[in-house]
Amino acid sequence: MSDWWKKAVVYQIYPRSFKDTDGDGFGDLNGVIEKLDYLKFLGVDAVWLSPVYQSPQKDNGYDISDYRRIDPRFGSNEDMYRLIDEAHQQGIRIVMDLVVNHTSNQHEWFRESRKSRDNPYRDYYFWRDPKPDGSEPNNWGSHFSGSAWTFDKETGQYYLHYFAKEQPDLNWENEKVRREVYDLMKFWMDKGVDGWRMDVIGGISKYTDFPEYKETGGQKYFIGKYHANGPRLHEFIQEMNREVLSKYDCMTVGEANGSDIEAARKYTDPGRHELNMVFSFDHMNADHRPGTPAGKWALKPFDLLELKRVLTDWQRALSENGWNTLYFENHDQGRVISRYGNDTTYRVECAKAFATVLHGLKGTPYVYQGEEIGMINCDYDLADYRDVETLNAYHDLVMNNRILSERAFLDVVRKIGRDNARTPMQWDGGPNSGFTAGTPWIKVNPSYKEINVAQALKDSDSIFYYYKKLIQLRHTHDVFTDGDYQLLLADDPSLFVYTRHSEPEDLLIVANLSEREEKFDDRSKEWQLLLASYPDTPSAPVDMSLRPYETAIYHCVNR
Ligand code: NOJ
Repeated sequence: MSDWWKKAVVYQIYPRSFKDTDGDGFGDLNGVIEKLDYLKFLGVDAVWLSPVYQSPQKDNGYDISDYRRIDPRFGSNEDMYRLIDEAHQQGIRIVMDLVVNHTSNQHEWFRESRKSRDNPYRDYYFWRDPKPDGSEPNNWGSHFSGSAWTFDKETGQYYLHYFAKEQPDLNWENEKVRREVYDLMKFWMDKGVDGWRMDVIGGISKYTDFPEYKETGGQKYFIGKYHANGPRLHEFIQEMNREVLSKYDCMTVGEANGSDIEAARKYTDPGRHELNMVFSFDHMNADHRPGTPAGKWALKPFDLLELKRVLTDWQRALSENGWNTLYFENHDQGRVISRYGNDTTYRVECAKAFATVLHGLKGTPYVYQGEEIGMINCDYDLADYRDVETLNAYHDLVMNNRILSERAFLDVVRKIGRDNARTPMQWDGGPNSGFTAGTPWIKVNPSYKEINVAQALKDSDSIFYYYKKLIQLRHTHDVFTDGDYQLLLADDPSLFVYTRHSEPEDLLIVANLSEREEKFDDRSKEWQLLLASYPDTPSAPVDMSLRPYETAIYHCVNR
C-alpha cells in the first residue's frame, strides 16, 4: 500500500454550504463537481466530504438513516459515482465521512430496536433500565447538553446517545453491528472511494458497566474519561483494518475525541495496523478555560505559548512511529483568524501567518472550505444560528440553568460556535455570495462583498495564492513531508519559529503571531527565502524586524 497521504493536502468540503446548483438553498454534489476545477487549481490532492448520506439532518448529516443512499438534498447515488469519477480524472481522491458511533433514530436498525425488548435489533444499541427512582441509568452527559440517556416509553428503557437524542449510539460489542459497518465501508470503497474520515471514532468502544462519574464538581450530567477510549477500542479498529482497510489503497483519519498523545500513538503506529492519522483537539484548546460549569463555552484569551507547546509535543511524539494531522479549521471550529488572530486590520497577514505555521509542520495538512480565502466568523443574532449544539447549549446554559447570561453566551458563540464555519462558501460578491440562486439554509456572512473567491483569484497577493504556493512547496520539497521538527524560542510569547531537517534540506519557519514588531536573527545557515507574507520580507533572516503577522519560510540545501 502506498503512503500517498503523507505528501497530500486534503481539502474539507461541508457540502450543504459549498455550492448549490438546483436553487434549494442547500449545497449539493453537482456543486462539488462544478468546483473540481477550482480545487485542482488550488492544488489539493484529496477532498474529504462531510456526510452526504440519507439523513433527517438533525445534526447536518451526522445522523444517518441509510448509509448506502445519498440524501436527495445532495443529489443521487449516480451523482456521487460521477463525482468520484470526475475527481479521479482530475487526480483528486475522495474521502467520505464514516459516522458509525451512532446512527439517526430514523435508521431502520433503530426503528426496529425500539419496538420491543426482544427485537432482533434490540442489541444494536444500548438500552438500560431506569434507576429505581426512574432517573437515567447513570450521570453521563451528552455533548449536546443534558443527559446522554433518553427514556423511550414504548419499552420502558433508556437508550444511550453521546450527541443529540436523535443520534442513538451503536453497540459495537455486537458482532453483527461491526459486520454491518464493514459491509457499508466495502460498498463505498468498491465504488471507488479512497478513504475515510471516522467521526468520533474514540467513542465506539463503551465502558459497558456504565460507571457513574464521581468527579462531577456538582454537575448533574458529566462528560469525562468514560466517554472515549473504551476497553475494546483498538481491538475494534484492528479488526476493521483486517477486514476492510487492509484490502484497499486508502487513507484513514480518525476523529480521536478524548485522545491523548499515547492513544494517538496507538492509533497511528503502522506496526499496529489501525489508522493512518487522527485529529486531536489539544491545540484547539489554546483559548479554552477548562473545568467550569460552562464546559466548552468558557474562553480565555488565546495563549500562543500553549499552542506552541501542544503542537510541539505532538510533533515530537508522532515523529517516528506515527503521523500527525495538521488543521486549524473544520466544520466544528470557528475560523482560526477570528479565534486566535486578527480578522480585521491584519486579516490577510494573519491568515498567511497561521497557514505558514501549520503547513510547515510534519503531517498531513487539511484546508477547510473558505480557509484558503481567509473567511471569518459570523456575528449573528441567536435567531440566525442553526446548529443543534449551539441551540441546545443556549437552552441549557442560559435559559434553564442561568450559568451564562445571553450576552456572555453569544460572545462565546461568536468565537467558537460551529456555525461560524458553516456559513455559505463565498464565491463572489453577487447575491448570496454566488452560493445559491435560492434562499440559503443559513445566512450568508455579510463579509462576502470583500472576502470571496472571485476577488481572491484576481489578486496575485491573495491568501488563496499563498495557500496554492504552500501546497506546491509541500509537493516539491521532501523536507516538508519528512523533516524532523525543532522548536526555537519556545518561551517567546509572539514568535512561532521552528526548523525542519531531512538530508540534504533544511527549513526555517518564522512567524510573528502578534501585532507588535518583533526582532529575529538567524545566521546558522545560508538561508534562501522560499515564501513570505509581505512583499519586502528580507531574503535572509538577518536583523529582521518582523511586522504584525509577518511570516516567512527559509530554505537551505546542504552540499
Ligand atoms: C463530530 C462531528 O465532526 C460533528 O459535526 C458531529 O456533530 C459529531 N461528531 C456527532 O456526529
